[in-house]
Amino acid sequence: MKKSLITWIGALSSAAVLMSSCASDPDSPGLEYMPDMYRSPAIEAYVDYGEVRARIDETKKVKLTAMTPPQFSVPYYGKDSALVDMMLPYRRLPNQLMKSTHGFYGERLSAADEYTLASADIKNPVMLNEKVLEDGKKLYASMCQHCHGEKGDGNGPMVTSGAYSGVPNYMEEPRMKLSNGQMFYSIYYGKGMMGAHRSLLNKKEIWTLVHYVRSMQYKDYLTAGMVSDTTQKK
Ligand code: HEC
Repeated sequence: MKKSLITWIGALSSAAVLMSSCASDPDSPGLEYMPDMYRSPAIEAYVDYGEVRARIDETKKVKLTAMTPPQFSVPYYGKDSALVDMMLPYRRLPNQLMKSTHGFYGERLSAADEYTLASADIKNPVMLNEKVLEDGKKLYASMCQHCHGEKGDGNGPMVTSGAYSGVPNYMEEPRMKLSNGQMFYSIYYGKGMMGAHRSLLNKKEIWTLVHYVRSMQYKDYLTAGMVSDTTQKK
């Protein structure tokens, strides 16, 4: 007698618990016993928790998001003035053509051909030494080699596989005659089929790569001390 009463109470109370978790709204999870397990307290940069299934909860609004910083804002690079100077936005603007070739919308564009202007007056601010070429080699291997090839001959795996073409050989004219500034400009903003690299590499890294490309072009680049703006080997 006692046993069956306990069984009944048990059955009824578990039925009550089960029934209470049902809700008529098919989107509702029903009664939440452990809300933390349904709604993660983790902050996700792109999610505004204020709105869940079209219902806005003021208390859950996350106002800080991973928004793009305002135009012309400059990241903090520390107190080394030479480094800060190097890292400031590139003063040559992309030319008009880049609007259509590289999708540079909403940017300040230059009316002049800045690519050609980049020739004479821009020096490579990164001092050349062995370490720089080592760093350049690493960057080149991860960012450029698949197109330009290990030796810079334009035969990277992207090209040999037939997926991509038009990659120049650094050792052929007119690339030997490219000035450091032009090279920088092309890597920074892209050129033709090569995309812009400014969002992937900072200016120091790009200048390091310019040194590295030069060292592929001229075997004695390091020893000959072609440190700054050598438009071509004299
Ligand atoms: C997706 C393939 C691809 C990648 C990745 C790539 N390039 Fe290029 N690169 C090209 C092509 C194609 C051209 C020829 C552009 C033209 O002249 O129209 C080119 C041209 C160049 C030139 C000559 C620019 C000029 O003004 O004539 C340099 C220098 C260069 N690349 C360096 C680099 C460096 C350094 C990297 C790595 C950060 C890199 N490229 C990554 C495809 C690529």
